[in-house]
Amino acid sequence: MASTNSKSPETKPSGSAFTGKMGYVMAAAASAVGLGNIWRFPYLCAKYGGGIFLVVYLILVFTFGYALLMSETAIGRMTGKSPIGAFKQFSNTKASAFGGWMNAIVPFIICPYYAVIGGWVVKYLVGYCTGETQAMAVDGYFGGYISSNLQPELFFIIFVLLTLVVILGGVQNGVEKVSRIMMPVLIILAVVVSIYSCTRPGAIDGIKYMFIPNIHNFSMMTIVSAMGQMFYSLSLAMGIMITYGSYVDKNQDLEDSTTKIEFFDTLVAVLAGLMIIPAVFAFSGGDPDTLNAGPSLMFVTIPKVLVSMGFGTPAGIVFFLLVFLAALTSAISLTETCVGTLTDELGWGRAKSTLIFGTYAILLGSLASLGYGALGNLKIIGMQVLDFLDFISNSVMMPISALAICILVTRCIGLKTMADEFERNSKFKRKPIYNFSMKYLAPVALIIILISSVLSAFGIISI
Ligand code: PHE
Repeated sequence: MASTNSKSPETKPSGSAFTGKMGYVMAAAASAVGLGNIWRFPYLCAKYGGGIFLVVYLILVFTFGYALLMSETAIGRMTGKSPIGAFKQFSNTKASAFGGWMNAIVPFIICPYYAVIGGWVVKYLVGYCTGETQAMAVDGYFGGYISSNLQPELFFIIFVLLTLVVILGGVQNGVEKVSRIMMPVLIILAVVVSIYSCTRPGAIDGIKYMFIPNIHNFSMMTIVSAMGQMFYSLSLAMGIMITYGSYVDKNQDLEDSTTKIEFFDTLVAVLAGLMIIPAVFAFSGGDPDTLNAGPSLMFVTIPKVLVSMGFGTPAGIVFFLLVFLAALTSAISLTETCVGTLTDELGWGRAKSTLIFGTYAILLGSLASLGYGALGNLKIIGMQVLDFLDFISNSVMMPISALAICILVTRCIGLKTMADEFERNSKFKRKPIYNFSMKYLAPVALIIILISSVLSAFGIISI
């Protein structure tokens, strides 16, 4: 998104880079809605408890997620800066500089492996275009594919290059416009596919699993994964919304925009869950191995749904095209943020930053991509490279970044100043929730999560 680049004044006319009232909402939604909703949410929900995961997730999104999204946007709007500069402006301590950097570094970890999944999506899109509809629905197809080294690596590089071409070509706005039109189409198709999934024989058990909380399915991992997912899905705790906030008009009602983004993002996630989880029960009888499939779940389940639909090939082309676009707009916003950090902090030119970042993303992403094949033995604290990058960013670094934001807000900026910012041009309706989340809920939850996820990763406790 051109509008996220803090270095290009031409994209930031005085006032706001976002055109019209919906500009910021649409741009933030384009960043938020992506693989996190369609690919990551369903597999986490399936793996970490179904209904109980959903409840914890929703509570987090509408309390802490809301508070963090409000805070980040407001910090950006107050300072007009990206995270490192914004943190500096409010406090000149080393701790605060660390907080700013932590926010800025997270997208550097996420972007490379995000593109690996983006590559899987491109492969499936091509597969539907070339009529491999039946083959892709066969058990074991996906596992065989990701361990085949060359193709996944090629498609991953294609996804990175596409992202870079869009950015270097300065056509983000074009892509964003296309995706604005596609978003509603994505919702409609998701509704159609989820109705189809939910009406298959046996699917009802999946709907129950997804919506009826069962306390026996609860574990500490339910909270850890739900919180990580909340950050990931709303693009929080990684500086992105601070950067976006710096372009938001002073007259905009932040609470209203935040509510829209949260609602839209959650809607897409729940719809994706409804496409995939009931289908696991309808097509695999709720097999625990499939429920625990993790990153492969969408790629294993959706092809089965499509093939049984009768018009699977055209539906598959449309579905994966839409997922591809959602992934591309998110990858653009991740890459833009990283490139922005390099240009701002190291003084590199835009083209140089983009090329160096692209090379880095291909190198790190290749380790993740080949981690399912040639580098299968490369394990970091017992995890495959992709899982490790996902874990370290979502369960370790993002809680630290979020904690840094909470401390900045409560200690350095002050809740009163924040309230003044929110009340500029609207009522601050959820003020009690905001204050409670920032003061108590967030710090306590973050510290518990951070400690427990690190201890469990090293096998000291099992959660
Ligand atoms: N929120 C995006 C998604 O759900 C992922 C993303 C994370 C995008 C961080 C930008 C920044 O897919």
